[in-house]
Amino acid sequence: MSNVVILVGSVRKNGNTARLAHSFAEGAAKNNNVEIVSVADYNVNPCIGCNSCFTREGNQCFQDDDMVQIYEKLRNADIVVIASPVYFYGISAKLKAIVDRLHTPMRTTFRIRKLGLLLVGAAELANLFDPIIMQYQMVLDFFRLESIGTILVRGIKDIGDIKGSSALKEAYELGTSI
Ligand SMILES: Cc1cc2nc3c(=O)[nH]c(=O)nc-3n(C[C@H](O)[C@H](O)[C@H](O)COP(=O)(O)O)c2cc1C
Repeated sequence: MSNVVILVGSVRKNGNTARLAHSFAEGAAKNNNVEIVSVADYNVNPCIGCNSCFTREGNQCFQDDDMVQIYEKLRNADIVVIASPVYFYGISAKLKAIVDRLHTPMRTTFRIRKLGLLLVGAAELANLFDPIIMQYQMVLDFFRLESIGTILVRGIKDIGDIKGSSALKEAYELGTSI
């Protein structure tokens, strides 16, 4: 049994990304402890690149914001799943702020071994997810992590569009596979 944290990058709590993440969580919860962390519930400032976390005890960030609560949730995570809407061919800015703030603890204190990726975008472009997949692959390589898999959903724009999509079942099944 692993501890799984799903970081959901849309502020739309009823949105497509959240629904996809919930399907994955339902499957994953069969054999794991699963927690969903939505950017809608936290205010996290961007990393300012001061690098003071390198030398501070416990490698803690000096910023006293909601990231403190997210660090606690990730401290014992074995698997982290990134779930995001495509925003300008990247992940959402609120989620990127959280990811950037993980840079030092990923290398020092966390024990995360595996990542997963769930993405939703409005366009039908074949290469829609390529920039994010490239980043994902580089992060896997840099931190020597294993991928549990990816679910990429095109042509999904308005709230509710993902309802009835086969991607929800695929996400559930990916969840059951871990
Ligand atoms: C600021 C912004 C930027 C977006 N950029 C893209 C994009 O580059 N490509 C794309 O296919 N969809 C883009 N979209 C559409 C969203 O990815 C799409 O509506 C998605 O279903 C939203 O997910 P949500 O319901 O979880 O919020 C963008 C939406 C917003 C609000």
